Amino acid sequence: MPAFDTVIRNGRIATASDVFSCDIGIREGRIAALGTDLGDAGEVIDAAGKWVLPGGIDSHVHIAQPSGEGIVMADDFASATRSAAYGGNTTVLPFCLQENGQSLRAALKDYHAKAEGECYIDIAFHLIISDPTEQVLGQELPALVADGYPSFKVFMTYDGLALSDRQMLEVMEVARQTGALVMVHAENYDMIRFLTDRLEREGSTAPRFHAASRPIVAESEATHRAISLAALSEVPLMVVHVSNREAMDEIRRAQAKGLRVMGETCPQYLVLTAKDLDGLNMEGAKYVCSPPPRDTESQIACWEGLQQGVFSVFSSDHCPFRYDDPQGKLIPKGRTSFRWVPNGIPGVAARLPILFSEGVMKGRIDINRFVAVTATNHAKIYGLYPRKGTIAVGADADIAIWDPDIRQTLTHDQLKDGSDYTPYEGIEITGWPVLTMVRGQVVVREGALTGARGFGRHLERRLGA
Ligand code: URP
Ligand code: ZN
Ligand code: ZN
Ligand code: ZN
Repeated sequence: MPAFDTVIRNGRIATASDVFSCDIGIREGRIAALGTDLGDAGEVIDAAGKWVLPGGIDSHVHIAQPSGEGIVMADDFASATRSAAYGGNTTVLPFCLQENGQSLRAALKDYHAKAEGECYIDIAFHLIISDPTEQVLGQELPALVADGYPSFKVFMTYDGLALSDRQMLEVMEVARQTGALVMVHAENYDMIRFLTDRLEREGSTAPRFHAASRPIVAESEATHRAISLAALSEVPLMVVHVSNREAMDEIRRAQAKGLRVMGETCPQYLVLTAKDLDGLNMEGAKYVCSPPPRDTESQIACWEGLQQGVFSVFSSDHCPFRYDDPQGKLIPKGRTSFRWVPNGIPGVAARLPILFSEGVMKGRIDINRFVAVTATNHAKIYGLYPRKGTIAVGADADIAIWDPDIRQTLTHDQLKDGSDYTPYEGIEITGWPVLTMVRGQVVVREGALTGARGFGRHLERRLGA
């Protein structure tokens, strides 16, 4: 019997804090040894000239969520987790959406049924609370936190999802009592509805007016309010998909006061702008997401947020719809007004290559920060550390090997998702994940899918464990 199932040799390893060169010995899905001359192995993987990094954790993805109006998301759990693996990820955290009138247990049962036997990589669900009834707040939510679902997202906008301030306070109260983390989509619902109605009255209905209907002030006001509600409730808060300086500064000020407020940004706020929504005919619909991409000054601010630690996580907000499809971005009603274009863009496979190329290779962030905001901090914040998110003896062997010398132009066919486009088409990328390993099993190697559908597991989580 060889000492190890697999040894990764000659690689340069980076964690959130260190860079070192050594071999990694893997046994029964875990990292069993770090060192040199580790002895024989069933398989030896040569990583000379490459980075060996913790597999990416993407804590903000939407998979197979119903989207109303006959709209169908472009990814199921098989295609989303396959695409994630191609992009160097080993765990994703999708949302389980509670529909109005539905119990949380019923919603979770649905999502587990959708995911069961389908995933190529590991997953863990967050909950979306859309209907905080007495039963949900008093019984279901506390029981589910104890069962390993300790994070939930609340929305301040969107028909059918938006909670009032009072409802947010009630959800936060449960979070305080149970030690859970609240994630917030912060945009001012009434501002957006008012502006959408006005733009439509003026005949301004093309996709580009989506950005005009959701200005920066709608995001920064709601961010300030969400932070105030969390401060009153004495709960930690994660402000997701932050797109601009004003909203970031709200988070920075809260952090400076000692409040436990964290921030997340996403690739669309680093490399896209509202101008991308200007495409002729309906092409701009490809970029409709909320908050919308802003301008170059906002991009600079989001980079600063990553560099300075205002943002602790960088996620994709993968929310894929097909473009050329009457059940996707081009839903017939969407041609009559941006109001009806489904919100969200695909990005689970493009997230890491974009940050590696634009961040690490261009010198905006170092490799440790890259690992922190793409893996380690997700694991720490959402209760998966140290099993996930780092390279250490005892941790799951969730590893991505990156070749920093590969240069290519990003095209949709590299990403293996279920959509029919990428909003990042044509971006020049330096560096690429050439091998993705989950619990010791190689899932993607040199562009070939080697993993098994159904290998991915659901992970129960505990915060602060
Ligand atoms: O436009 C977006 N971001 N759609 C996904 C849902 C959300 O708000 O995160
Ligand atoms: Zn959101
Ligand atoms: Zn403020
Ligand atoms: Zn989202």
